[in-house]
Parts: sequence; C-alpha cells; structure tokens
Amino acid sequence: MSARPKILVTQKVPDPAYPLLEAIGDVEATMEEGVIWPYEELLRRGPGHDYIYSLLTDNIDAHFLETCAASTPALKMVANMAVGFNNIDVDAATRLGIAVSNTPGVLSDTTGDLAFALLMATARRIPEAERFLRAGKYTGWGPLLFCGAEVHHSTLGLIGAGRIGKIMSKRASGFEMNTLYFDVYRMSPADEAQYNMTYLPMDEVLQQADFISVHTPYMPSTHHLISEREFHLMKPTAILINTARGPIVDEKALVRALQAGKIAGAGLDVFENEPAIEPELLSMENVVLLPHIASASLKTRTLMATMASDNIVAHFHGQRPPNILNPEVLQ
Ligand code: GLV
Repeated sequence: MSARPKILVTQKVPDPAYPLLEAIGDVEATMEEGVIWPYEELLRRGPGHDYIYSLLTDNIDAHFLETCAASTPALKMVANMAVGFNNIDVDAATRLGIAVSNTPGVLSDTTGDLAFALLMATARRIPEAERFLRAGKYTGWGPLLFCGAEVHHSTLGLIGAGRIGKIMSKRASGFEMNTLYFDVYRMSPADEAQYNMTYLPMDEVLQQADFISVHTPYMPSTHHLISEREFHLMKPTAILINTARGPIVDEKALVRALQAGKIAGAGLDVFENEPAIEPELLSMENVVLLPHIASASLKTRTLMATMASDNIVAHFHGQRPPNILNPEVLQ
C-alpha cells in the first residue's frame, strides 16, 4: 500500500471522523451536508481509493467493488457508518479480498429510544394531535379528543431479538408491558428471564401482540417477512413499528392492511424504496412517518462516525479492524 492511502468519504459525516483519517491518508470527501451521490457518481469517484468510508445510502454492489478492485490503487476496505450492511455485497467483497466493517453496538440504545418513541407517538396519536392544534382546530378539552391506544400493560411483540430488540424490551419493562418475541435464534432461559422476554413462534407473536416492532437485519430471508398473511394474523387494533429496514415489510401490503382496517396503525422510520414512500401512507392520519433517524442523536452519530474511521485506521496499521464482517479476507 502507498505510504499515504487514498480515502473516499461518500457523505458529510460528524467532524471527529476526519482528523483520524487525515492522520493516515489523503481524504476526498464532500463537505456539503445532505449530498448523496447517485450510483453513477459513486462509480466515477470510487476507483483509485484504498479505502471507502460508506453510508447506508451507497449501493456498494459487485460491479462497484469489481471496478474499484481493478483500479490503482486497488480498494482494500469498505467501512460502513451503519450497523446494517445490506447496502454492501459482502460476498462479492470477500471474493475480491476487500474487507468490510460496520458500526454495531454504539447505536443500540439510541435506536431503541426512537423505536419506543415511535410506538408512543403512534399509539397516542401525538403527531396527529399536534397537527390539529397547530391548524387552529383546538377549541377546548374533549372527552373523546384524540383517544388513542393504551401503551402501559399492553403486549409488545418483537420480531428479532438482537441487541436492539433486547433494548426495546428493557424500555417496555418500564411501561410494565408483556414482551413476546420471535427470532430464528432462541435466547437462553437465563437471557429470556433477564430481558423479560417470552419466546413464541412468529405467528403467535403476531396474533397476540398489541404492538409489533421489527428488529431483524435485512437479508434475502427477511425480505417481506411482514406481508399480507402476517397482517391478516394481527389484531385489528395492532400497531406495527419498523425501525429496522424498509423491505422487511411489504409496504404495498401494509397500505392495503391499513385501508382495510386489518391493523390500526403504523410507525415507520424506514421504507421499502427510501427515500420514496408509498403515496397513500402520506395521507393516513394513523401512520407516523420519520426520515430514517433512529440512531440520530449527535452523540451516537459521532460514535458511529469515529468507529468507522477507527476500522480504516486499524486496517492501515495491519491490525484487525474491530468491526470487520469478513475476517477471512485478512488471511
Ligand atoms: C441505520 O439504519 C444503521 O443501520 O446504522
């Protein structure tokens, strides 16, 4: 590798990430906030870098990786500033000997906070009530004004019980909720007791829960995990919360389920074709929509940003990147 590696940062990220990279290499980056390079632009800029510091908005597919691997210098590593890495073809990267890392752990609490806030906001109709007030429609307290769903002592159904699912259960305990979960990996009895979570097959979780919150990674086996059949199993009073990845939920089937009253509402932080959103959702009052902000506290985003830099720095120094996803490429 050249003495000073070439590093590409694909979006503006929190400031502390840059000096860590500049200490070891030459950094190319956009400093304009909110600029997301389309795929063609990424493909034009990517080749000729040793390291790519990527965001979940970047489609790091096999063609992109092959192009960057064939350039000079050849790409050594993609460090994603996100815990999810479905935007990267990790198998292709492994085949090409390119390391891939993510940023797990540091965002779990913050994401759990937002997932719970979304649950509360949807259940208690907070955005809808605020829109009503700001529109000058509040003429006085009313016994039926914005009656919503009860959160405390209700049943939470978690689909996915990894780091963020467990945090969600901890938040729910404060509201004395009963937490059911389904995951392909069943937790040990000790962990189930510690996190106050009861395992059930997925269909039973869907049938019994008042709130269903999705916390699985997105991969081929979780594509449209929640679709027509699953909505049919849910209670008509159920509320779906998704802070994981959009395509885990079949968004068109969700619209149909809401229109038919098969479920009562949804709180969504992620969408199937981000940033596009099924147009019908935008006009539904029983749906709360957020622009993928679950990990967006300044502290957490700063931790994620430095973690991605740390992975690149470790690789440059010949050390094992702490969050490498395909360690086999280091052999
Ligand atoms: C956010 O969605 C992440 O994967 O970090």
